[in-house]
Amino acid sequence: MSDASSEGDPQLFDKIVNLCKRRGFVFQSAEIYGGFRSTYDYGPLGSLMLRNVKDAWWRSMVQMRVDVVGLDASILSPPAVWEASGHLKNFSDPLVDCKNCGARHRQDQLADLSICPTCGAKDSFTEARQFNLMFKTYAGPVVESAAEVYLRPETAQGMFINFANVLNTSRKKPPFGIAQVGKSFRNEITPGNFVFRTREFEQMELEFFVPPDQAQQWYEYWCSERLQWYTGLGIPEHMLRLRPHDADELSHYSSGTSDVEFLFPWGWGELEGIANRGDYDLTQHMTHSGAELTYFDQETNARYVPHVIEPAAGATRTMMAFLLAAYDEEEVRGEKRTVLRLHWRIAPYKIAVLPLSKNDRLTPTAREVLSIVQPQWMCDYDETQAIGRRYRRQDEIGTPYCITVDFDTLDDRAVTVRERDSMTQDRVPIDGLTAYLSAKLT
Ligand code: GAP
Repeated sequence: MSDASSEGDPQLFDKIVNLCKRRGFVFQSAEIYGGFRSTYDYGPLGSLMLRNVKDAWWRSMVQMRVDVVGLDASILSPPAVWEASGHLKNFSDPLVDCKNCGARHRQDQLADLSICPTCGAKDSFTEARQFNLMFKTYAGPVVESAAEVYLRPETAQGMFINFANVLNTSRKKPPFGIAQVGKSFRNEITPGNFVFRTREFEQMELEFFVPPDQAQQWYEYWCSERLQWYTGLGIPEHMLRLRPHDADELSHYSSGTSDVEFLFPWGWGELEGIANRGDYDLTQHMTHSGAELTYFDQETNARYVPHVIEPAAGATRTMMAFLLAAYDEEEVRGEKRTVLRLHWRIAPYKIAVLPLSKNDRLTPTAREVLSIVQPQWMCDYDETQAIGRRYRRQDEIGTPYCITVDFDTLDDRAVTVRERDSMTQDRVPIDGLTAYLSAKLT
């Protein structure tokens, strides 16, 4: 990915929102009914890209390690879980209403505590009241307090309440982690900035359980590891920073947190928090449930409550950061070219197979080429419009390689492979295509 992304371009945000809608990355939810505010549907390209973000995370956090296992816990959970975690008591934001226009604001996000940013009225706010961000619903047919359940506001608690199950079934011992990717829900007072802050979103979280005396060292390890994950997937270093929290910012459970922040068009914003949660979570769940959530170390003959280091990232928010960092415009032979310089792992399609023209003689060979590459890589196939326009369409959605089947192919059994960023073209024998692409896309 080049540094030429249009960072500093005041229109970048609008360009990305527009591209997402026009090319089928992200749609406003329930659009045909006027749209459901701050909820989004991921279209043909967005669903591929979001899956790639989550897969890249899972690959690095689970597949490539021997000390992390996966989990897919339920979204609905009983109040007891949230009582123990502290979310029922603490997971709230200070809410104020403007008595003049009725707008609701998060008090801690107001630039001026006396002026309503919606209507400009002075001293028109109500007293702040704490608003709990969890969505509550009822399990079963009867709407009564005994049936109350919550949609999880984070995936993390699933890992804590399954700590003993995983310990007893996986043959892991601290230091080891449990990873999970999935939906979380928060009734945000002020959602906004497209998919940056929504009420339904996806998280990628790791709970890494360590002996207490190793907590600081693992905290530092994960801070550096996680920052590298983003740069390794092509986000330029100058668009990322690691920011340690001030003491007054720390969550109720944390003794140390650093955020991985990205330079969004409106300034620095959090992609991920890496927190040293101490023994807070396991102790809380032990106290509230009565379950034994300790670890007995046979080597030292000591029983202890593991401490937890938690790298917690947002998948949907991170996808937006990848789009913003990858967006580029340049002039090629007097014409504007829009290109998403996405890392190939994140790009929706890795390859597009493009017959030079829609022609009965080319189609069978183009289909044959598709059948060779499709089992290994997500591919697009497009045979309408001029080839130049089809290249531009693929550039705009970030496809790293285009394979063109032309009339020479019918004689020499070779195809043209065009690389997105440099636009250079190689002539490659069909028989050598898999080896050629494997060297670039693995
Ligand atoms: N278990 C810890 C935890 O949930 P968090 O900082 O509240 O920590 C982790 O959330 C990540 O989830 C954030 O860094 C962000 O990327 C993402 N996230 C949180 N709230 C979000 C929202 N309303 N919309 C989109 N992403 C969100």
